[in-house]
Amino acid sequence: MSLLVTFGVNGQIASVEVSPWKRLLDVLREDLHLTGTKEGCGEGECGACTVLLDGVPVNSCLVAAGQCDGRAVTTVEGLARGSAAEPLLHAVQRELVARGGAQCGICTPGIAVCAAHLCESGALVGASDPRAKVRELLAGNICRCTGYQLVVDAVIAAALPDGESAEDGAGDGGRGDGGAR
Ligand code: FES
Ligand code: FES
Repeated sequence: MSLLVTFGVNGQIASVEVSPWKRLLDVLREDLHLTGTKEGCGEGECGACTVLLDGVPVNSCLVAAGQCDGRAVTTVEGLARGSAAEPLLHAVQRELVARGGAQCGICTPGIAVCAAHLCESGALVGASDPRAKVRELLAGNICRCTGYQLVVDAVIAAALPDGESAEDGAGDGGRGDGGAR
């Protein structure tokens, strides 16, 4: 059985005729050719497939196409503004690049989407320990091979550009922090 599913994707309307049970992850990658969203575990554990659904981070490997009808999805391709010729990266993308926080192509897209939401939600404003808050809010985005220090630096810099220095946490482990969050 297939169903016509119509939803917003990165500000455009998309209609696909798919099984209502097809994973949003697969609809994005196979039907809409938005391959920035990656599959890691495929079972809701790693966060590589994170997209925003009505502005809320979700694991797209756990969302069925039929759940998306009439809703709005933002993928990593939708974070940048500007034009195709002159893209303007989201602040968190710029900081991930500038601070060496961009990791591999599997985990980075999900981290970027979740971190962008974290910045825009104002979750760090007024936080007594912003670094701990970033680690808590990115806890669903797993990297199995490096640490999170530079990612945290980048998110802090993007979310609190006039606030805490990214260097304030320099003592908490560097990139080789064993993956502790
Ligand atoms: S691929 Fe979806 S959470 Fe890992
Ligand atoms: S999983 Fe991407 S760098 Fe570790």
